[in-house]
Amino acid sequence: MSTPDIKELVKEKYGEAARRVTSGAGTSCCGPSACGGDGDPITRDIYSTSQVIGLPEEAVKASLGCGNPTALAQLHPGETVLDLGSGGGIDVLLSARRVGPMGKAYGLDMTDDMLALARENQRKAGVENVEFLKGEMENIPLPDNSVDVVISNCVINLSADKDSVLRETFRVLKPGGRFAVSDVVVRGDVPAEIKRNLELWCGCVAGALKETEYQNKLAGAGFAAIEIDATRVYDIEDARAFLGAAGIDVDAVAPQIEGKFISAFVRAVKPKII
Ligand SMILES: C[S@@+](CC[C@H](N)C(=O)[O-])C[C@H]1O[C@@H](n2cnc3c(N)ncnc32)[C@H](O)[C@@H]1O
Repeated sequence: MSTPDIKELVKEKYGEAARRVTSGAGTSCCGPSACGGDGDPITRDIYSTSQVIGLPEEAVKASLGCGNPTALAQLHPGETVLDLGSGGGIDVLLSARRVGPMGKAYGLDMTDDMLALARENQRKAGVENVEFLKGEMENIPLPDNSVDVVISNCVINLSADKDSVLRETFRVLKPGGRFAVSDVVVRGDVPAEIKRNLELWCGCVAGALKETEYQNKLAGAGFAAIEIDATRVYDIEDARAFLGAAGIDVDAVAPQIEGKFISAFVRAVKPKII
């Protein structure tokens, strides 16, 4: 499948997810590989109740991330934050609180229904220092050196062109700017049938980079101080939930996948002097 085809498939799946939230049906979105809902080992229990208090219910329900980047990132009043693949907007709204009225939080998403949901959530939250932009993270519609922190929550793994995403991220960050991203990452090699499975691509698993690939791609884009820390390690029972429904014989591949999928917090810095 070509890169544009993957993008269309991702748009379709996440558009469907947004419409499900809007209609009150919940977030299970990625066909059999489910990427949302209480039973999903990747997306469940990410935010504490105290963190999401006061946010619109639909923003919380639409959460499809695999980590909590705003809890782990350093965000300071007055800063500009950009969330790549902002979905229903939960991390943008949380960032807006942290950077305060003198700061700004942008969300970028390519899926119209997600943008509509996020803008409605912004309206309900009554926050003004937020702007949702339509666009692709491979071609970010913001000027060079304009952002202090780029966050993202389980989205870079969906791109078939991760080098462009990282190059664009580097371009829009100010010198000294921070990359603070939650993503699914792979430790070691995983079976080819998992990598080839398109439902699993939409479920944030098949497109995941190996830790070393992620480090090399970040370094290749110019980043320094690269760190990848596991926030969740998935065992075989977790894997059963996200692989079994996509038609993978989990028991047959168990030894090859046990402990190999992790959610990670990936950090890097754009050097002050390039
Ligand atoms: C797994 S959801 C995560 C949403 C959000 N970050 C969260 O934590 O709830 C992925 C989101 O990224 C968006 N997306 C995927 N690929 C994208 C791309 N290349 N450019 C912009 N947005 C993209 C999808 O439309 C979807 O809203």
